[in-house]
Amino acid sequence: MKILHVVGARPNFMKVAPVWKTLEKLTEFDQSLVHTGQHYDINMSDIFFKELELNEPTEYLGVGSGTHAEQTATIMVEFEKVINQSKPDLVMVYGDVNSTVAASLVCSKLLIPVSHVEAGLRSFDRTMPEEINRLITDQIADILFTPSIDANENLMREGVSADKFHLVGNVMIDTLVQLLPKAKTPIIKGITEQYSLVTLHRPSNVDQSNMLREIIETLIEISKSLQVIFPLHPRTRQKIQDFSLKIPDDGNLLLMEPIGYLDFLALQSRSKVVITDSGGVQEETTYLGVPCLTIRENTERPITISIGTNSLVGKDMNLLKDEVEKISKGKIKKGNVPHLWDGEAAVRIAKVLENL
Ligand code: UD1
Ligand code: UDP
Repeated sequence: MKILHVVGARPNFMKVAPVWKTLEKLTEFDQSLVHTGQHYDINMSDIFFKELELNEPTEYLGVGSGTHAEQTATIMVEFEKVINQSKPDLVMVYGDVNSTVAASLVCSKLLIPVSHVEAGLRSFDRTMPEEINRLITDQIADILFTPSIDANENLMREGVSADKFHLVGNVMIDTLVQLLPKAKTPIIKGITEQYSLVTLHRPSNVDQSNMLREIIETLIEISKSLQVIFPLHPRTRQKIQDFSLKIPDDGNLLLMEPIGYLDFLALQSRSKVVITDSGGVQEETTYLGVPCLTIRENTERPITISIGTNSLVGKDMNLLKDEVEKISKGKIKKGNVPHLWDGEAAVRIAKVLENL
């Protein structure tokens, strides 16, 4: 069976890696990998191929950045050419980024079966571009792999036929389980024993100057009692510059380029608290049992709240400060690891594909 995987943005790489490696061991699968080029900086893309020991992409589409329409449309035009040439039996897409929905749309019109890994997650917030991508991809995909039971319930409610979806667990956690032993604390100049780790990139947080200003001011405040380590997503770095936001260079709040997976994982696992709006980071902190404060009004990963260590603070920066203070004083939300987040999700995916 010819399987073609599509990836493009940072979180896709951690999701495809275990699936690729598992299918590689099985002779009936002939795999190829298309990288759309949605993310292209060395530390948003290349570094993950090295660290996750992923094969070089078979095709690199080089689409780059743009408006949603520009990016999605360019991926579709370029990806259609690849599909017409390679004629795979199955295309596998991951997560909720523009590359995911663009590739799925192309396949659905060319009658190429699509499999969606991380199907069924819903924030119920259609102002998020990712929610539109999730809804559309799940409606047109043929095989849907879900990470948690809430995702199955969402698909059922949306009328997706039950024989199409399979609860397999979380492939991002497969990568974490595999690489955690290799994740050694990075040498970062000025890092202290106790710190909080921050990552932010949602347009709802970083694209509005008032919101981003409020967040940064709060982080500066927090950093006076707990050091803040803040690797900046390129979108966020750009917005800090556009809005001329000033951050004191006093060693309390350390800004840096986005960092590789192993270093980020090591920092997460030893962090007093993680402050984020990332989807994947909400999951990883739950697995690691590290408290996570999410600056969002909702999450498509509710299991990280009901079972895990995640809490939503919405846009309430006073609440964020209060919660960090409570955690610093040892009042920590205890959590458990959700069902099937065990490092074996890709093996379960392979079993389904073998039985097709
Ligand atoms: C995208 C995904 C988001 C995911 C995130 C992971 C969509 C709609 N959004 O958001 O779901 O959580 O990736 O990180 O698919 N840029 C660079 N270098 C890069 C990549 C981006 O400088 O390598 C800058 C560009 O200025 C670009 C901006 O970041 O305009 C945003 O990139 P884009 O891929 O459009 O969206 P993300 O915010 O990264
Ligand atoms: N990550 C990383 N370096 C960073 C920030 C995040 O390697 O500087 C990893 C993180 O551990 C997780 C993934 O990137 O595996 C999450 O990606 P991101 O937050 O960009 O996207 P989302 O999950 O929100 O779609």
